[in-house]
Amino acid sequence: MSLRIALTKGRLEDKTLSMLEMAGYGTEKVRNKGRALVLPDTVHDLDYILVKSNDCITYVDHGAADLGVVGKDTLMENEAANYYEMLDLRTGCCCFIVAALPQADLFAKKGRIRIGTKYPHVAKAYFLSRNMDVEIIKIDGSVELSPLIGLVDGIVDIMETGSTLKANGLQVLDTVADISARVIVNKASWKLKKEEITKVLDDLKRAVNQNA
Ligand code: PRP
Repeated sequence: MSLRIALTKGRLEDKTLSMLEMAGYGTEKVRNKGRALVLPDTVHDLDYILVKSNDCITYVDHGAADLGVVGKDTLMENEAANYYEMLDLRTGCCCFIVAALPQADLFAKKGRIRIGTKYPHVAKAYFLSRNMDVEIIKIDGSVELSPLIGLVDGIVDIMETGSTLKANGLQVLDTVADISARVIVNKASWKLKKEEITKVLDDLKRAVNQNA
């Protein structure tokens, strides 16, 4: 039975493909995709779709893809979705952080604070766990801008190199969680195609260890 794997495009794309290549998979068609959207592996009986991170979960959740590779950040934000998280690829590593301008004195502020983020669920859960009253403002990109122009008191965002925060004078106040690329599996596929999926997971596990 052939498999379909949903890959997250963008930030994780190249790292995921390198991992698949290390595991012995043929990703040339994905590397040279042009406008094609369903891309066959050139070695194994499976194909890939390249999608946005939230869509990766949606396709796996509904069984349109058997497996998916997606960041832990997206998984944490979409906790309600239905899938098995099976493997940490230990690539695409970054972390969720809380940041603000130094003068904001975020954790000392009395009353409700305003937080800008692409991850409202994660941000809300974090501040609730600190018993802080928070208003979340959803920002879709360049979240670092929002405290600079006075829209919010601080942000919850992902930090990879830290250079965007640094370039904008923002200070990391806390780390919320470590993030890396994870392999998720559709629950019905896991029952019906266990052997094929286990083989992919084992191949990837070997690549992860090789990469360590
Ligand atoms: C992410 C994140 C930060 C930046 C962090 O944004 O939201 O803005 O990367 O990376 P750094 O620590 O290496 O500077 P992304 O590039 O995905 O784009 P976006 O801001 O448009 O969402």
